[in-house]
Amino acid sequence: MLQPLGALTVRACVDDDVPRLAEIFREAVAVIGPSDYSATQVQAWLARVPSADVLAGRLGDGRKVWVLSDARRCAFAFADLEADGHIDLLYASPAIAGTGAVARLLAHLEAAARAAGMECLHVEASAAARRFFLKQGFAVLHRRTFEIGGVEIFNFAMEKRL
Ligand SMILES: CC(C)(COP(=O)(O)OP(=O)(O)OC[C@H]1O[C@@H](n2cnc3c(N)ncnc32)[C@H](O)[C@@H]1OP(=O)(O)O)[C@@H](O)C(=O)NCCC(=O)NCCS
Repeated sequence: MLQPLGALTVRACVDDDVPRLAEIFREAVAVIGPSDYSATQVQAWLARVPSADVLAGRLGDGRKVWVLSDARRCAFAFADLEADGHIDLLYASPAIAGTGAVARLLAHLEAAARAAGMECLHVEASAAARRFFLKQGFAVLHRRTFEIGGVEIFNFAMEKRL
């Protein structure tokens, strides 16, 4: 697994980041997912990890996207913000997850949301992400259960009033 070089800083995502972001997405689900989800649930989640091309389309729809980037400009985490305050994607490489760096990425996102006049951030958070977002002042609205490829899985609707 790629390790960061030097300090991690927040910057806007560029097109060339996207293949690396797809890699982060897959590594995050494969390594962090098993803390809270069964092997069957993780397999179903992994089957939904987008290819770089599909992810490029999703991230290129006008939403804002930021990455945590090292001294080589290599990304180690990413987060997006849609126009209605929805955070669709937040993924961190296991190489830097748990170090506190992702909180700086979210602080940047939150500052941008406030600057844009947004009043609320909302997210459907995985179990690990629920613990992260609780530390960042989000509240759980309700637990959600749904199916991915016939496998039942759960996450949490959360929000933070700004
Ligand atoms: C959600 C995420 C970005 C949060 O960033 P983070 O730096 O891990 O945040 P935290 O340090 O608060 O850790 C949250 C939980 O992730 C797990 N975790 C963190 N680092 C980990 C690592 N390196 N390996 C395995 N699990 C790890 C722990 O269960 C932790 O809970 P705890 O603090 O109660 O022990 C990151 O955990 C991640 O990418 N997770 C997998 C993908 C995911 O669930 N994305 C959200 C989709 S809504």
